Amino acid sequence: MDFTFICDSLLKQCLLLAASGGICFFFFWGWRRARSFSSATKCRSNDSEARKKLSITPLDGFDWKTTEPLQLRPFRGKEKYNLTMAIENLDPSELIQMDRTYQDRIKKRQAVLDQHHDIVVAVNEPSVKDTRIRAAVSELYTFILKDYLPNRYPSMFRLELCPEYGSKEMLQNLVTGAKWPTTLADNEPTIRALEILTQTVDEEFLILLPDISAPEDTPSYVLQVYATCFPSGFNTREKLGLRLADIHGPVPGYAQKLERSMDRFFAKIEVGRVIKRVNWGITTETDLFAAFGSMHASSTVDPQRDQVIPTGMLNLEHTVLRCERQTLHRLPETRALVFAFHTYTYPVQQIKDEGLGSELATAIEGLKKGNVPAIYSYKRGDVWGQAVTDFLRS
Ligand SMILES: *[C@@H]1O[C@H](CO)[C@@H](O)[C@H](O)[C@H]1NC(C)=O
Ligand SMILES: *[C@@H]1O[C@H](CO)[C@@H](O)[C@H](O)[C@H]1NC(C)=O
Repeated sequence: MDFTFICDSLLKQCLLLAASGGICFFFFWGWRRARSFSSATKCRSNDSEARKKLSITPLDGFDWKTTEPLQLRPFRGKEKYNLTMAIENLDPSELIQMDRTYQDRIKKRQAVLDQHHDIVVAVNEPSVKDTRIRAAVSELYTFILKDYLPNRYPSMFRLELCPEYGSKEMLQNLVTGAKWPTTLADNEPTIRALEILTQTVDEEFLILLPDISAPEDTPSYVLQVYATCFPSGFNTREKLGLRLADIHGPVPGYAQKLERSMDRFFAKIEVGRVIKRVNWGITTETDLFAAFGSMHASSTVDPQRDQVIPTGMLNLEHTVLRCERQTLHRLPETRALVFAFHTYTYPVQQIKDEGLGSELATAIEGLKKGNVPAIYSYKRGDVWGQAVTDFLRS
């Protein structure tokens, strides 16, 4: 791991915070983290006991360096695109996937967090103090750092008790060398947990809580917290504090097709159940951080970007199938809903080389033929559609 890079980024955040009158947690953390490098040997493992209690199957001997990323092909057999939830149940052990891109992705995430801090992580501050929000973040944080990661991936993460941290339990990331406490201390701001999650897993998290003011029989979920490095085409900050229906505001057909069923569906998700779905789109820019609208048609975007790409003028290096493996589950104590996703990209050239070119082309055209044809323009099909389908069939 590029250690100077981290020190530098921590220091910058620290100075920014200091300038705004905040207390400098970052520097404190950076310092503690730096120290941990030299004295890791004094720590002892706290793994064995934790493992037995959970129903998470360990992947002993897992080697992230030789594990290929998932190859998702959600467009297969989709001659028509119907906007539905299209969900499956997932084994809770499979909540988070690891592969050989882990280290690079974590570095990218740290860079994006550094550059766009306020877009990447945020906690809603409602006018009436809502203690559920911090409690939910703290529960998610401990679940990921203590319960999930070291149990599922013991070759990548280890729980340790270190004298230098007052024998507090720490998660040692064996890939990056980072070491974080497994519980959010009372004196740490809520956002700190989100910053740590962001640079520990290549996964975006959004926490939804039921709107307290909504009647109990018509629950309505509100986005209260998020940590998203690689949003696909929207600025998550603008969605903070919004109800589900408003979050999906710009998705054509959402209100009619999904809104009520989604709120009701969310309300019914029980603790212990994990749900998965895969979303896909095409993008002509490979940058994973896409908070400023490159994925979706939008009137606020530079009109140049919405110019139709002529056949043959596609930049193949930058044109990818972008898939999100989305998961949803409920935390047992705070009962908050956690929506998470991991982004995978595959060059369209690769899809074509696999012999799936015409199938993807059919699925792209199918966006116009399903129950919500406007989704085609929403996904900017007008811009890249012709060039991409021509290429895929050539
Ligand atoms: C060590 O792990 C056990 C089992 O999860 C836990 O009960 C204990 O609190 C941990 N130790 C510390 C200091 O957190
Ligand atoms: C998609 O929606 C249309 C219209 O609502 C329906 O007729 C069709 O059966 C659906 N197809 C699939 C695959 O769900």
